[in-house]
Amino acid sequence: MNNMSTAKRTTSRTKSKSSVQTGIQPRLTSQFFAGRRKEFLRRMPANSVAIFVATPERTRSNDTEYAYRPSSDLLYLSNFPEPEAILMFVKGASGARGKSKFVMFVRPKDKMREIWTGVRAGVEGARERYGADEAYTEDQFEKVLRDVLDDAEQVLYRFDRNQHVDERFRKVWIGSANSQKTLGNPEEIVHEMRLFKTAEEIEIMRWAGAVSARAHMAAMQVTRPGMNEAQVQAVMEAIFRFNGASYPAYTSIVGGGDNATILHYIENEATLNSGDLLLIDAACEYQGYASDITRCFPVSGKFSPAQRALYEIVLEAEKAGIAMARPGVRLADIHETASNILRKGLVTLGLLPRTHLTAEGEKKALDAWKKAGSKGEQPLRLFDFYMHGTSHWIGLDVHDVGTYGTRSQTGKKRLLKPGMAFTIEPGLYVSQSETRVPAAYRGIGIRIEDDVVITADGAEVLTKDVVKEVADIERVMGSKQALAARTGIDELLLLR
Ligand code: GLY
Ligand code: MN
Ligand code: MN
Repeated sequence: MNNMSTAKRTTSRTKSKSSVQTGIQPRLTSQFFAGRRKEFLRRMPANSVAIFVATPERTRSNDTEYAYRPSSDLLYLSNFPEPEAILMFVKGASGARGKSKFVMFVRPKDKMREIWTGVRAGVEGARERYGADEAYTEDQFEKVLRDVLDDAEQVLYRFDRNQHVDERFRKVWIGSANSQKTLGNPEEIVHEMRLFKTAEEIEIMRWAGAVSARAHMAAMQVTRPGMNEAQVQAVMEAIFRFNGASYPAYTSIVGGGDNATILHYIENEATLNSGDLLLIDAACEYQGYASDITRCFPVSGKFSPAQRALYEIVLEAEKAGIAMARPGVRLADIHETASNILRKGLVTLGLLPRTHLTAEGEKKALDAWKKAGSKGEQPLRLFDFYMHGTSHWIGLDVHDVGTYGTRSQTGKKRLLKPGMAFTIEPGLYVSQSETRVPAAYRGIGIRIEDDVVITADGAEVLTKDVVKEVADIERVMGSKQALAARTGIDELLLLR
């Protein structure tokens, strides 16, 4: 599906310009987070307490820490960036208005510590800037918890997010009258909320998608034979940061030739050869939201016939997946359609037998082979070339959360609705060691991945600003700008 038809099917867009058009980085406001908390409180059972605990900081080495990224649920409900925080929601008995409150436990102000690790919001900041009705230093957690538990019938607490706080919670919980009360999981409520993106979140994800797309376009422009995978990665990640993104949304995958057939290849340190196809699965996290893009292109700028043949099959599957994304469809339907197109393409190329045009046909052929005594090598299956799913939800986590997961039975049956965001990412992977196919097809890994969000009557592609047609890729790679970029990048960055 081309960009024009995407625009036509997208009706929920307002007339105002998107941030991508204005070049102004979008932000979520404190009122927006307040609205989410109100909705969370509305969904909580009457007379209950819900608690969310920040994940701990992680040491990188000696006294240096990894950059702290709060857990997505904490970000979702508070946007509070500091470690050691605890959020507590208290909801009164039904009908008891005014009894609900949002309580924060935060690190205390500490002049000396703040010199080393930055300014802390403290209890005042928690109230004034993060909307807490009440705020305490985090050492007060047990005391306040004891008080609120006395009044509540149900507690929503998820263990295993932070062992230290688990122990503190347990001490109050176990051995008191409270342990007779029901223990529930607050994540079930918040994950269901996170599944549906609002217009404000979509605007953030549009920016993330546009920045990642820009990085993929730059990768096509700078890549040339002899370059290292890491150098392409460096250019892309510089573009993320340059445009306000915090970091890659996941470890970038930049794999040339056979490396592209390793699904989660992250070494990214091999030299790129002229005959290689390069697979790049890299995208940024912006304001907490992930994007996720994969593109493949030839290091030389021109596809070989075998690379092109496989690429066109994957592209057809990906475009068909995007074209059918609309309310009422299931992710499983998209996966089936994409898989059948891959099957058809592989049969046409002679890499799969005609029996394999459908999953049922393939199963029958395999059963017949087993029945006949499983002689010789096991016949090839689609799984030998395509061994992952076509979609996953995307949002604050790149593989977004919840019991609605694409692998669970409920998730598989779930019908798409406006606001649901997910990837479409079919692929074909032929390892160098796959001797059952002609040599020309070996050492080629292809995945094409875009992010979409369901609209009232279709889907918007959030990552549309990066080309994927063969002719467009070859044009971009052979353009004057690409030639200039290849020289310019060395002049700017290379030590010599
Ligand atoms: N980047 C990981 C994935 O595509 O799922
Ligand atoms: Mn993905
Ligand atoms: Mn990806």
